[in-house]
Amino acid sequence: MKIKTNYPFLHERELITAQIATFWDNVSEGWEKVWGPHIHHGFYENGETITPLKAQENLIEKLSNMLFITSNSHIVDVGCGMGGSSIYLAKKYHAKVDGITLSPHQVNIANQKLKDLSNVRFKVEDALTLSSFANNSIDIVWSLESCEQFYNKQLFVEQAYRILKPGGQLMLVTWCSDREEYSGRFAKKYKQICRAFDLPYMPTMNYYLSQLSTTGFKIKSGTDWSKYVEKSWDIGMALLREYSFIKILKMSGWRSLKFAYQLKLMRNAFRDQQVKYGVFLATKP
Ligand SMILES: C[S@@+](CC[C@H](N)C(=O)[O-])C[C@H]1O[C@@H](n2cnc3c(N)ncnc32)[C@H](O)[C@@H]1O
Repeated sequence: MKIKTNYPFLHERELITAQIATFWDNVSEGWEKVWGPHIHHGFYENGETITPLKAQENLIEKLSNMLFITSNSHIVDVGCGMGGSSIYLAKKYHAKVDGITLSPHQVNIANQKLKDLSNVRFKVEDALTLSSFANNSIDIVWSLESCEQFYNKQLFVEQAYRILKPGGQLMLVTWCSDREEYSGRFAKKYKQICRAFDLPYMPTMNYYLSQLSTTGFKIKSGTDWSKYVEKSWDIGMALLREYSFIKILKMSGWRSLKFAYQLKLMRNAFRDQQVKYGVFLATKP
């Protein structure tokens, strides 16, 4: 069996999109209880001992330090989850932030965190259309570990390009495969990972670099940060061990339970370097 990583092997876009929305509707509350408000890796440097939340904030900090953000910036947080990055960026930079997700329940959870923050809004919207955003209107598109689930990565890159102003910045952080094609047991493992995390496909870092340049972006950075983030999986699995099978089931149902039991797959894939943590910064000329 051979499989290419640059093309969705889970077909039927509408079905997958609905599946992803339902997945996040079902698991987000339970996720927050176990792992907190962010749904992404943490950044660990020099073997330091810090809480997972601090490590996740460190990652946002490291990424946002690569960007030029002011209080006049308008940021779109594409695939915003429970609003973790949006709120962080809005508080730190006083920028205007629109967070979008496929999950109505995530929008509700995120809205509850807003309190008196008036510069952030959340809504359900598809990253592949970004239909509520006008051409050349946005300063920063931020996509932190959401592109994995997009059915058509190229379409998203094109939409990001469309809505960004000239000089606008795209921060795209996503899990990547280490090869363009897998065969045998590697192909089997690739499929297992994609199915476990609802990833229609997981292309290589070179694929993203090439899509970004073809679209017209100027690439500022395209680096593998796996060594800084992979520790997150062991820490995540340790946190989960504090919860019983029944408790997870009660908190967010079977899908969550299935997800929880598949974390080891991804931890091993990072350890074996089959998955890379791609960090891409690109600007629209
Ligand atoms: C792993 S979570 C990351 C959430 C958030 N960026 C964070 O770091 O906490 C993936 C997010 O991508 C969103 N997503 C997946 N496909 C999407 C699409 N086509 N359009 C908009 N959001 C999407 C999901 O709804 C979910 O909120």
